[in-house]
Amino acid sequence: MGEPLTQTPATPAAMAEQEKETPLISLRGITKIYYTTKTPVPALNGIDLDIQPGEFVSVMGPSGSGKSTLLHILGALDVPTRGEYLLEGVRVTGLPDRELSRIRNRHFGFVFQSYNLFPELTALENVEVPMIYAGVRATERRRRAERLLERFGLSHRMTHRPAELSGGEQQRVAIARALANGPTLLLADEPTGNLPTAHGEEIMSILQELNDEGMTLVVVTHDWRIASYGKRLVELKDGQVVGDRPIAPEERRLRPGIGDQLDRRP
Ligand SMILES: Nc1ncnc2c1ncn2[C@@H]1O[C@H](COP(=O)(O)OP(=O)(O)OP(=O)(O)O)[C@@H](O)[C@H]1O
Ligand SMILES: [Mg+2]
Repeated sequence: MGEPLTQTPATPAAMAEQEKETPLISLRGITKIYYTTKTPVPALNGIDLDIQPGEFVSVMGPSGSGKSTLLHILGALDVPTRGEYLLEGVRVTGLPDRELSRIRNRHFGFVFQSYNLFPELTALENVEVPMIYAGVRATERRRRAERLLERFGLSHRMTHRPAELSGGEQQRVAIARALANGPTLLLADEPTGNLPTAHGEEIMSILQELNDEGMTLVVVTHDWRIASYGKRLVELKDGQVVGDRPIAPEERRLRPGIGDQLDRRP
């Protein structure tokens, strides 16, 4: 018998490669062209991106560079024109709408700049909405929504409608809602864009805490102070990834109070 035609290389590097965790998300050659206008608009132009479980990725780039488009594709709110999207190693590209919305509801939580709460619903009811779609029973829905709102300091605002809440409070309701079904990945598009700095930092502290607990996050922002809460910076320009690097701990913005805690170490 002759030599086998293909051999699996048994070098340590190759073995380490095989043992690597399956990325939570894997994008290959993702291109998005909008045909909504007379002239087609290319928004993403061949994006390759892997995101591992537990990462906190900040996405920056000039206006129009494709940040929101990328986030929509990551969250299966939109489909790419070309390219492949794998979620936990499973192909998302090409799935029928019904399947996409199931994946969206089960895996993704969204936080937007403009909160996107239902104006006629109370804070509690807003947080319950995604659980209705997921078929969670009424008593369990109410219990989970209350717990989430309590966690974000909104116990006294549960029956308020969005118009009766501050921007920061509305965004905390939106985060509670995004977490309602226990998502795999939280996606935030300019989550602090409409907020004064202090409230913005409050929101970022919440996101950082969620990441400390293991939640995977992708946050789009124009603002380096916001981006530097992340652990990895992906930069877009003209629909392409032009930078992808870790954010060093010394670059990372320390939350107010953290320094004091460190000083008080025994
Ligand atoms: N629905 C749409 N139809 C047509 N073109 C669109 C649509 N949405 C976005 N675009 C175009 O696609 C490109 C990327 O838009 P995108 O919203 O992803 O940029 P962005 O980086 O999020 O910008 P910003 O920082 O201003 O929010 C832009 O040129 C934009 O005009
Ligand atoms: Mg945008």
